[in-house]
Amino acid sequence: MELLGAATVVFLVCIACLLSFAAWRGRSVKGKMPPGPAPLPILGNVLQVKPKNLAQTLQKLSEEYGPLFTVHLGSDPVVVLHGYDVVKEALIDHADEFSARGHMPIGDRANNGSGIVFSNNEEWVQIRRFALSTLRNFGMGKRSIEERIQEETDYLLEEINKTEGTPFDPTFMLSCAVSNVICSIVFGKRCDYKDKKFLALISNMNNIFEMMNSHWGQEKEHHNSSFHMKNLINSAFDLFIAGTETTSTTIRYGLLLLLKYPKIQEKVQEEIDRVVGQSRKPCVADRTQMPYTDAVIHEIQRFISLLPLSLPHTVTRDTCFREYVIPKGTTVFPSLSSVLHDGKEFPNPNEFNPGHFLNENGTFRKSEFFMPFSAGKRICPGEGLARMELFLFMGTILQNFTLKPVVNPQELSITPTLSGTGNVPPAYQLCALPR
Ligand code: HEM
Ligand SMILES: *[C@@H]1O[C@H](CO)[C@@H](O)[C@H](O)[C@H]1NC(C)=O
Ligand SMILES: *[C@@H]1O[C@H](CO)[C@@H](O)[C@H](O)[C@H]1NC(C)=O
Ligand SMILES: *[C@@H]1O[C@H](CO)[C@@H](O)[C@H](O)[C@H]1NC(C)=O
Ligand SMILES: *[C@@H]1O[C@H](CO)[C@@H](O)[C@H](O)[C@H]1NC(C)=O
Ligand SMILES: *[C@@H]1O[C@H](CO)[C@@H](O)[C@H](O)[C@H]1NC(C)=O
Repeated sequence: MELLGAATVVFLVCIACLLSFAAWRGRSVKGKMPPGPAPLPILGNVLQVKPKNLAQTLQKLSEEYGPLFTVHLGSDPVVVLHGYDVVKEALIDHADEFSARGHMPIGDRANNGSGIVFSNNEEWVQIRRFALSTLRNFGMGKRSIEERIQEETDYLLEEINKTEGTPFDPTFMLSCAVSNVICSIVFGKRCDYKDKKFLALISNMNNIFEMMNSHWGQEKEHHNSSFHMKNLINSAFDLFIAGTETTSTTIRYGLLLLLKYPKIQEKVQEEIDRVVGQSRKPCVADRTQMPYTDAVIHEIQRFISLLPLSLPHTVTRDTCFREYVIPKGTTVFPSLSSVLHDGKEFPNPNEFNPGHFLNENGTFRKSEFFMPFSAGKRICPGEGLARMELFLFMGTILQNFTLKPVVNPQELSITPTLSGTGNVPPAYQLCALPR
């Protein structure tokens, strides 16, 4: 009986292998989908694509198959766009076809396909327009958001000052500070770092709904098309999810890099002292006068490439692209890390070097290849806010404190702990000494 069972399993696996090999051959013979390694049945390309060092793996595959290739994650084919040319050609020159959001398991569960991040088509156009104008009305890119961030820096500094020079892990307070900026924009008020609901929100973003009810319930309902309450809630939820972890992780990673490279920290502080001084807080207008600090922040974002594959995209219809046809609904990953680590644009791309964004005369060097926020129609709508937060939070911290590692800088690891959908820095502690 057991033998029969085992024989059946072997037989079924063989059939599955044959079928999937035939399907793969069929596709590659037609020459339609971009080329790629032959997948195993059900498992796909697990042998070639290891989530642990995804960027390196995809780099290798691109050396073999070119800038446009197909890998199978499980049984689903995924088209990878590798390198600046092909990413730009797809997301910008073919924006209409490539700007749909691909399938994300979390999206279906968390949002049921509404909100901004997970929606598509007319609904997405409307919600995105609505969310952007809301952010703008609240002052995105204007004074009032800047003031909200500056207000929050006071609380963050106070929290850091409480550590009195002893070692601490900055993760939690940075999450609080960054979450509070969104709270302040969306709900009109910040929360105390000890507020129970706020802490619950940060540890479990699902509690957003409870926050909604307490602070935001009075919002007028629009019964029109996409503007119903569910979408408003989901959009705010999206802003929270998309805007909190991304920004606070970038700052946390940035501080780690400054611990690793104390000379760079020192040069940023010299620039802050020269341009801002000690008698007032840094403001966004200072940024143009501070090319070195600006370059360091760009280099942090380039070096860590926080979302190495952006978020999944898909094509809205069967799409002829270069010499291939990508069938409607196929998942597409634009490899932002391949653009951010382009060795021609950024010599020694795996080295942390603010010189990547400086001209020889010390002025800021702009680069088309700087796309940590992606590109095209789906480009991160929080870019302006995020860049303001990075500059103001990091600038104010360094104005008041010198950051010291707990171990020798040489021993500090700056390799991300998880290199799948997001690059997260290894856990670390630091000491903040008042200047
Ligand atoms: C350093 C911080 C941030 C980084 C690196 C970042 C990066 C990204 C990336 C790569 C995407 C995917 C774009 C694509 O589909 O190709 C994205 C989408 C998005 N981000 Fe950000 N982001 C950051 C901060 C923020 C902030 C502060 C907000 C909110 C105010 C925000 C809101 C969003 C939203 C709503 C989307 C979905 C847009 C859409 O699907 O149309 N992000 N972000
Ligand atoms: C999700 O959306 C589908 C169709 O839009 C709807 O039928 C279903 O009730 C929704 N589920 C939840 C949990 O909102
Ligand atoms: C920082 O902490 C010290 C000692 O704990 C305290 O005396 C000082 O007032 C604090 N400074 C600020 C600005 O909170
Ligand atoms: C509601 O829908 C109508 C027709 O579709 C449109 O003219 C009107 O501007 C919409 N109102 C809002 C608030 O979107
Ligand atoms: C930070 O620096 C500003 C300007 O020098 C000063 O007013 C403020 O008290 C400092 N805050 C802390 C917590 O040290
Ligand atoms: C600095 O160099 C860049 C490019 O090398 C040039 O465009 C810019 O005009 C220079 N600026 C100054 C002030 O010399």
